[in-house]
Amino acid sequence: MDEQINRKLLDFIAASPTAWHAVENLSLRLRAEGYRELYEQAPWKALPGGKYFVRRNGSALLAFRLPTESLQGFRLMAAHADSPSFKIKENAAVPTGGLYTRLNVEGYGGMISSSWLDRPLSVAGRVAVRTEAGVELRLVNVQRDLLLIPNLAIHMDRSINESKRWDPNTDMLPLFGDAEQAEEFARLIAGEAGCAPEDLLATELLLYPRTPGCIWGAAGEYISSPRLDDLQCVFACADGFLQSGDSDCVPMLCVFDNEEVGSATRQGADADFLERTLERIADVLGLSEEDYACCLAGSFLVSADNAHAVHPNHPEFSDRNDRPTMNRGVVIKWNAAQRYTSDALSAAVFAEICRRAEVPVQRYSNRADLPGGSTLGNLSTRHVALCAVDIGLAQLAMHSAYETAGARDTALLIRAAKAYYETRLCRQGEGFVLLP
Ligand code: CO
Repeated sequence: MDEQINRKLLDFIAASPTAWHAVENLSLRLRAEGYRELYEQAPWKALPGGKYFVRRNGSALLAFRLPTESLQGFRLMAAHADSPSFKIKENAAVPTGGLYTRLNVEGYGGMISSSWLDRPLSVAGRVAVRTEAGVELRLVNVQRDLLLIPNLAIHMDRSINESKRWDPNTDMLPLFGDAEQAEEFARLIAGEAGCAPEDLLATELLLYPRTPGCIWGAAGEYISSPRLDDLQCVFACADGFLQSGDSDCVPMLCVFDNEEVGSATRQGADADFLERTLERIADVLGLSEEDYACCLAGSFLVSADNAHAVHPNHPEFSDRNDRPTMNRGVVIKWNAAQRYTSDALSAAVFAEICRRAEVPVQRYSNRADLPGGSTLGNLSTRHVALCAVDIGLAQLAMHSAYETAGARDTALLIRAAKAYYETRLCRQGEGFVLLP
């Protein structure tokens, strides 16, 4: 069971080298399950009982089902589809010493640079193509081992095993081919896009590791793959969303882009995409301003982004008491400075839903002297203030090109997500009543 679910997860990740691909793959799955796409630029003719999704920039997606009867609120789960990588600059080819052609890159997000070295890489992303009608966006993915960033031999740098700084402007340029290949990269991408090189107008291309994901460990208890942060949560939330039956809410799956660079883009969590979509749903359902206000106050958001597991070689970096471990269930994240949205009410409601679904819950907080990251929750609730909790699955080596997580946790988050979407939550005073 767990193996089958994780194989599906690893297939989804392999087919999703960028946020655009992840959202495209989710869209295909939603369509296959009877969801209809709505467009931000067109009036919405959505019907009670209908299943819909809307995309922005091709890299953020909101999917939802409209109830037929009473409405207690919106029930959201949010995760992010982007991961740290290296973006290839438009003028990509770098002829090098008459010997090589490298590609010009810059960092996207906070990656562990050394993990990108000495492994086969390729390129995927989105390009703009000139057509008779105007400009068309197309996804590209060069599905072969194409590039590699070589380490320096230890004989040339005896300090390489000491603390080493990787300069993105010199150390991280991938090798593409010999000196004769300088013109070839643009041709290759145009070929992938199905256009002539002169019709390739603009590109947004990212490196991705070609190393396939695997399930490993003495009892098959670990999974490793690129982009587990946060595609493991995207996958599990989507599965729980699609498996869930109806309740008296608008269940909603939210996938955002650009979390790794601060989320403040059109398609990031710190934009009006969610807010506008909720307003349009309220319009479609014929809610008055008063109804909509009640509805928001009865709504709930689970922000799902992976958490740090205790490291086997460096347990000292975790908090002394809050020690999330892989394969021990969903992690609720806490932070006094409110970088995470969890509070007594939201954490208790979510933990109670998990308890009823027999999903174990763990607790994460940063060591008091180490600042942590922030997540989607706070950024979304800045635009629409909802009762929210921050959760994730415990993993190792976050932001490595090859991350590790617990094989049993994927199914646990799917079960928690399904239970969350199905539980009837009814606001009462400052609390919530939970009905199965
Ligand atoms: Co993340």
